[in-house]
Amino acid sequence: MKSDPGGAVSYGRYSLEPREVPRVETRLRRIVTPLPVPESVETFRRLQAAEPRSMHCQPPVLWDHGEGATVCDRFGNRWIDWSSCVLVANAGHGHPRIVERIRRLLDRGQLATYIFAHEERAELVEKLVAISPPGLERVFLLTTGSEAVECAIKLMRTWGRRLHPDKRTIVSFQGGFHGRTLGAQLAGGIPVLKEWIGGGDPTFVQVPFPDGYLQQDTSFDVFERSLSEQGVDPATVAGVLSETYLGIGPDFLPAAYAQDLRRWCDRWEALLTFDEVQAGFGRTGKMFAFEHYGVVPDLVACGKGISSSLPLAAVIGRREILDLYPPGAMTSTHSASPLCVAAGIASVEVMLEEDLVARSAALEADLAAGCRRIEERFRERVGCTRARGLVGGIRVVRRGSLEPDPDAAFAIVEACFRRGLLFFSPVGLGGGCLKIAPPLVIERDAIREGFDVLEESFLEVQGG
Ligand SMILES: Cc1ncc(COP(=O)(O)O)c(C=O)c1O
Repeated sequence: MKSDPGGAVSYGRYSLEPREVPRVETRLRRIVTPLPVPESVETFRRLQAAEPRSMHCQPPVLWDHGEGATVCDRFGNRWIDWSSCVLVANAGHGHPRIVERIRRLLDRGQLATYIFAHEERAELVEKLVAISPPGLERVFLLTTGSEAVECAIKLMRTWGRRLHPDKRTIVSFQGGFHGRTLGAQLAGGIPVLKEWIGGGDPTFVQVPFPDGYLQQDTSFDVFERSLSEQGVDPATVAGVLSETYLGIGPDFLPAAYAQDLRRWCDRWEALLTFDEVQAGFGRTGKMFAFEHYGVVPDLVACGKGISSSLPLAAVIGRREILDLYPPGAMTSTHSASPLCVAAGIASVEVMLEEDLVARSAALEADLAAGCRRIEERFRERVGCTRARGLVGGIRVVRRGSLEPDPDAAFAIVEACFRRGLLFFSPVGLGGGCLKIAPPLVIERDAIREGFDVLEESFLEVQGG
């Protein structure tokens, strides 16, 4: 499609017509231009002329840099960030320690090594083993969360098929998101995302997630019943893959359910993988979210917050599983890419030294109080709220129902954007969930101020 410089007036669901907005000037937020910034519109149009439209889905901030828990453009505007770049920037944006560690490698020109060894790689895998529970003692570094999930699926099936050639079914959960590659989407539990595949694979099976919202029965019986209804013989299950919390909520497993699941996997010689791509690295008030459940999985897929910045992912797991493939048979060109590894080392160090896991746990009360305030004030428009550590969700629904209201949710995100509070676009089944995920370095005041902004934005969208 040709560029249409005068044409595009929207950017996905957001308007590209600059609009005068009230000036905002607080210690944490600054909005001093019309929004979108008139001088930025040309860049959005250039993107629209040369990219697939699927990429044009976030509020139209022309991102210049981030500082801690704020995001700035180059026109003098500053937002409180409740996105963390979709749960990446756990240690905060542009943390000097991360920047410095990357710079050291840059200065010596160490930009790529393929899988030739480098010092930093040894340092990072040791660090990751050290923060993992005993028994998880091997780390395979990768680049994206989807890649880590694909690798976990492959390892579970390889393991299962060694026990029996038919042991290859992967059980996962309805509502789960594991990435956008083929295996990850086969395991994903959001039907609309995998329509393109054009049909299911009988060895990928999904069961209801015990969220206590859409699935009221949170007992483990539902898991077993659902498998039986789908004609799955437990002996053919190679592994169970679960987001540690369901991202669209965020919804957590009841601990008793997770423990039953662990027992079920042991009984049927199936492996258990937790997808911690968004849940890990302090997000929920624990280093890994599965620590809330008192169980240890066989494999953990990590990504996002592992580096707080550059693309890095990992599969962490039991030695005998990670060692299934002989030398050279499980690698990737950009495994342990040096700059990403440097970012990972520094991010884990910051997390430990600044005690960000404890900070995330301590700020949960503020996040939960804010969510409650919104739920009580807008009872008719909020299906439920969730908060654990520094991840929260508010499900915007059509008045008095549980039906998601994506239009209202998008309008609220846009209204927040104009007031200096940055969310990523709504997520979830039906797209009605406002997800709250600030960097773990966020100040308590920024959470409180953010909820003031959110309340004003709700009021603007739905009226008093
Ligand atoms: C739980 C979960 N798993 C996997 C992924 C895929 O990660 P990536 O986008 O890095 O491939 C995501 C991304 O949002 C995620 O939230």
